[in-house]
Amino acid sequence: MSVAFTGAIGAAVDRVEGRAKVTGEAKYAYEYRQKEVAYVSIIQSTIARGAIRGVDAAPALELPGVHAVLWHGNAPRLHEVTDGELEVLQSHRVSYRGQIVAAVIADSYETARQAERLVRIEYAPEPHDVLLRGDHPRLYTPEKVNPNYPAVTEDGDFDAAFESAPVKVDCTYETPAEHNNPMEPHATLAAWNEDGGVTIYDSNQGVVNVKNTVARAFGLDPHHVRVISPHVGGGFGSKGTPRPHVILTIMAAQAVKRPVKLAVTRQQMFALTGYQTPTIQRMRLGADRDGRLVAICHDAIVQSSTVREFAEQAALPSRMMYAAPHRRTTHRLVRLDVPTPSWMRAPGETPGMYALESAMDELATASGIDPIELRVRNDPEVDPESGHRFSSRNLVACLRDGAERFGWADRDPRPATRRDGRWLVGTGVAASTYPARRQPSSARASYEPGAGYTIQIAAADIGTGARTALTQIAADALEVSLEQVEVQVGDSSFPEAFLAGGSMGNSSWGSAVIKACRELRARMAEEGSDVPLWVEAETREEVAAASAEPLAKHGFGAQFIEARVDIDTGEVRIPRALGVFAVGRIINPKTARSQFIGGMTMGIGMALHEESLIDLEFGDYLNHDLAGYHVPTNADIEDIEATWLEEDDPHVNPMGAKGIGEIGIVGTAAAVASAVHHATGLRVRDLPIRPDKLIVAFARCNR
Ligand code: MOS
Repeated sequence: MSVAFTGAIGAAVDRVEGRAKVTGEAKYAYEYRQKEVAYVSIIQSTIARGAIRGVDAAPALELPGVHAVLWHGNAPRLHEVTDGELEVLQSHRVSYRGQIVAAVIADSYETARQAERLVRIEYAPEPHDVLLRGDHPRLYTPEKVNPNYPAVTEDGDFDAAFESAPVKVDCTYETPAEHNNPMEPHATLAAWNEDGGVTIYDSNQGVVNVKNTVARAFGLDPHHVRVISPHVGGGFGSKGTPRPHVILTIMAAQAVKRPVKLAVTRQQMFALTGYQTPTIQRMRLGADRDGRLVAICHDAIVQSSTVREFAEQAALPSRMMYAAPHRRTTHRLVRLDVPTPSWMRAPGETPGMYALESAMDELATASGIDPIELRVRNDPEVDPESGHRFSSRNLVACLRDGAERFGWADRDPRPATRRDGRWLVGTGVAASTYPARRQPSSARASYEPGAGYTIQIAAADIGTGARTALTQIAADALEVSLEQVEVQVGDSSFPEAFLAGGSMGNSSWGSAVIKACRELRARMAEEGSDVPLWVEAETREEVAAASAEPLAKHGFGAQFIEARVDIDTGEVRIPRALGVFAVGRIINPKTARSQFIGGMTMGIGMALHEESLIDLEFGDYLNHDLAGYHVPTNADIEDIEATWLEEDDPHVNPMGAKGIGEIGIVGTAAAVASAVHHATGLRVRDLPIRPDKLIVAFARCNR
């Protein structure tokens, strides 16, 4: 099925809520007002493993304005909780440093913070283990990796094929723990109602997920939980599932019988809102002398906590990127005394493509073949894993188009041969990919004579421009102008929809919006436009049918980086970054470009800046604020450009649009690392590429 687009889709429309955001009129979770609201302050464990022997709350309770101190001895019991991270204050056990072990509820935030210091907690510490090692004795193979893929895949005979391959790469790449740092930290305001239900204003990537998790945890009918989140200041995955503070806030409101609000601090986010696992990835590529891969093996090692298994799917992209008759991918995991890792923009693909694409660059060097040509030679006809055709795959076109724009043709492949004053100069390339999936969603479309059209859907606009894109999609489906359509999102009382995750938001929601709009038009054709009308539509059947198609659906891209490396200080600058993407139809070039360059910026951060350093003695992150945890800022990003190819893919959804929230970060770090190698001749195989690593390497080769 396709839509007769009338021109809203494809237009560079400004964000419909842009004015509300810049004037401060757009309300975020913590800004909602409630009468007699109380404030929660979190108390975090100071040990990484052990037990709580006792909590003395008496001095805190003496402070005027303090309503309660909650801890496992007096906290309400939760009903059904499947995520161990959400079993807040249910046990005397401590599973990681920074875990919530108590909370103060007071009239003001200041009083709550003051009282927090008066609560005495006695611990019985036990030795902890917080370090991921490739030879950890407790490594095991999980049953599945996130979200539901097999942990191990095997095709042919990798060992024999690799052994006899004339050109080999066998390298191990490491990525550190990384933390999501959206501009708006997590925040929740909870108010219990007289009918026994609860209303939550919350910063999240999906109100339905929050509603259902809260309902189960507190033993409520989901209809008695309302989650309101019209504006969200970023998430990147960290708000994809409700975090422990949501449970704590609702619990606190229950305990003190009044509305309660909680803003997670930036520092607390480093323990409580998830992070990307560190990875250790061994890549083995075996090729013919003409660069054709005969054997690919990707072995990924990641970590999880003792309270929940989260297994990042780092080896996933090596299953579908390149053709090779003999292939193996494995994941192993160790459960440590750490917070549970979780989603961070393109989990799996981001660390995995750093390793795979770095190894491809090393293979290009080893075989003396241009890195673009090497990828072209290994571009598969069909998905190597499933044998299915690709619904569309334009990686080669992206590489060729980018090469042209970037000026790749006259590149001298020799490393460490270009110098501009104190700067060594190099260029690098890498591929991007991300699956194009969708999930069932529903939407309501209504018409009011004289007022226009309203679309309601429990979707999330986490800053991506989703609300604007859905307005464009609805306008085209209704065949009316944008001004006649208002899209409302972020309320669990609206028809259920999938979360803003896995780059599936627009794809899932847009499908439901189009269906609802079409049905509304059909009703209006029958009943005229003099009466108010509304319809609700859901997409379960269409989505199931589409997933059953024997097609591999993925977006692709190519990233080009120029790096300049200071010969004395090891400082790396990125004067040029170019991304070329093939991701189906672009709904809104303005918001799409933001997603691409935002992802690429985060990828440059991954390559050069971002790293959460764990302190082995205390078992906690040393750098847990934006002073110690470096993300790229304006001065770090110079000429950055994203563009895209026309791609017609009728298989992904009625819009023909693949998700674009994550693909921009995929591959960037490998392109940077390859550009640094081209500039310096040095391969740094553990991210980030810090100046000190380059200085040490410079010294070693007497530069
Ligand atoms: Mo994204 S990591 O799927 O929110």
